[in-house]
This record gives sequence, C-alpha cells and structure tokens, in this order.
Amino acid sequence: MHHFPIALLLCCASLVGGAGARPCPDGSCLPRPGPSPSPGAASPVPAQPPSPAPQQPTQQERFTGTATVWGGHQGVGIPLGAEGAASLACGLPQALSFAQARFAAVNLAAHPAACARCLLVVCGAAGTCPNRGIAAAQPLYIVDDCGDCGPADLLIDAATLEEMTGYGSSGRPLPSSGRVAVEWSWVPCAPLLLKETIRMSIMPGGNAFYKQLAFGSAWQPITAASINGQPLVAPTASQPRWQWYAGGRPLNATAPLLVSLTAAGGSEQHARLPALQEQQDLGVQFF
Ligand SMILES: *[C@@H]1O[C@H](CO)[C@@H](O)[C@H](O)[C@H]1NC(C)=O
Repeated sequence: MHHFPIALLLCCASLVGGAGARPCPDGSCLPRPGPSPSPGAASPVPAQPPSPAPQQPTQQERFTGTATVWGGHQGVGIPLGAEGAASLACGLPQALSFAQARFAAVNLAAHPAACARCLLVVCGAAGTCPNRGIAAAQPLYIVDDCGDCGPADLLIDAATLEEMTGYGSSGRPLPSSGRVAVEWSWVPCAPLLLKETIRMSIMPGGNAFYKQLAFGSAWQPITAASINGQPLVAPTASQPRWQWYAGGRPLNATAPLLVSLTAAGGSEQHARLPALQEQQDLGVQFF
C-alpha cells in the first residue's frame, strides 16, 4: 500500500520524460487532476486504496462484438472453484469475491495478456436486449480462452449474461444466432478485487527445467515476473500462461523463493515464499 505514491510518481515521470516510458494500457498512470504531491514531501501511507475514478483513461480501446454463454448449458451459474479456474486456459488460481461468479473468456491469441484482467461489457445493440439499461454494465474477470471466437467476442458466465441482457434460462431464450451484440473495454480490476492480494498457481506437469504459472487477482496487469532472479516468459499469443524456463538450465527452486512482479505502471512487488505450492497467496498487491 505504501508503494502507491512512489509508483505513481515514477510512472508519470517516465511518461513525461518520454524515453524509456513504459506503456500504461489501463491509463492507470495518467496524471491525476488537481495538485500532485510534492516529490520532497513525506507521503503518508494512504488509509484507503485510491478510488478508481481518477484512473479513468481518456482514450480507451472499445470492442464491438458478440457474446454467448460460457460453458454452454454446463456453464449455467457455476462458480469457479479452485479446480475450476486452474483447469481453464488461463490456469488462474482461485479468486475470492466477485471473480468467482462473474467471469468471461476472450480470444487469447488476439489478447495475449488478457488472463486475470477485467473488462466492462454492455449489451451493444439498442433495443435487442430486454434488460438493456437495467443491469447495463457488467465487470468481468477473464479466466479462459473463447476458442475460435473473434477478437471482439466474449463468452460470459450464464448468470451475468442473463442479468445484463435478459437472455437466459429464466428469461428469454438467446436469439437464434445464439449470440448477443456487446461492446466492451478493459477496466482496472482494482475496485473489483478489493480484499484480494495477488495469487500464484503452478500448473501440474512441469519439470525441473520448465513450469507454467499464472498470477491472479492483481489490481494492475502484471508485465514482468521472476522467481529467484530467473525471469519468467510473459504470456504470448500461443501460450496464455507465464512460463518459467531458464534457457535449458535447471529452475532455481531453492527455498525461500523470491517472487518479483512488475505492474503495467512500473511498480514492483516482491514476495518471499517458504515453498512452492500449486496455489498460493503472495500477500502483495499493486495498490
Ligand atoms: C537460487 O535462488 C536462491 C534464493 O533466491 C539464491 O540465494 C541463489 O543464489 C540462487 N542460485 C543460483 C545458482 O542462482
């Protein structure tokens, strides 16, 4: 929590400075309106996480596509338990709170860094969604790949799809196409995962030279990670999970393990783990 003001300053300084500026896809580093804290002044530890309002980007990528139910009929209302999320394409550790019940799948080849990010979706076709305007905008946590759907298409958990559109098992049947027009854009996960710290999962089936990992519940997208100083390979279009691969050398799994994470804004968090577990809470967050 005490890292926030420093991270903001560093990130905004790099934006202003130009050279070496890091991308800030969520706009989380845009200068905030109003007076900024003086760099010399001691910054008090904020008692509350910053409100999401000042982080609203001025320009945002907006996607226009279609959505249908995640998991088909099997997916109706199922929450994502520990095994549920880990066995999906993103391999995410179990989330607490809202992300267990409100989730989506996107085309991970088109959006390689989408796992564990959040989006805000609305019914995109005026007049075609019975519920449009009632439960208009729904935030969702990305846990899966949508298969061969288009880059702007989504699969949405059945309960949320019905709440948002009015189509579902207790409402109207989906249109004959099976899909509903939607519009969506990325949003920070921060306000949605209020009580969570970053969690890490390790996929079964790795070996001493190669493991796949996933990080979930981060308030800002994670752009770089390392374990015991060995950098992880970030998700790519063909591999949505993080890969721990040290160029053919054995992985350094010496405990205690130091896990270092860098967020889109450039701030870092470090966790020291007594041992590697299939799923564990790192106890840190990008506030
Ligand atoms: C392996 O990681 C441990 C713990 O971070 C570190 O002390 C050690 O130097 C590392 N070993 C190698 C060969 O890099």
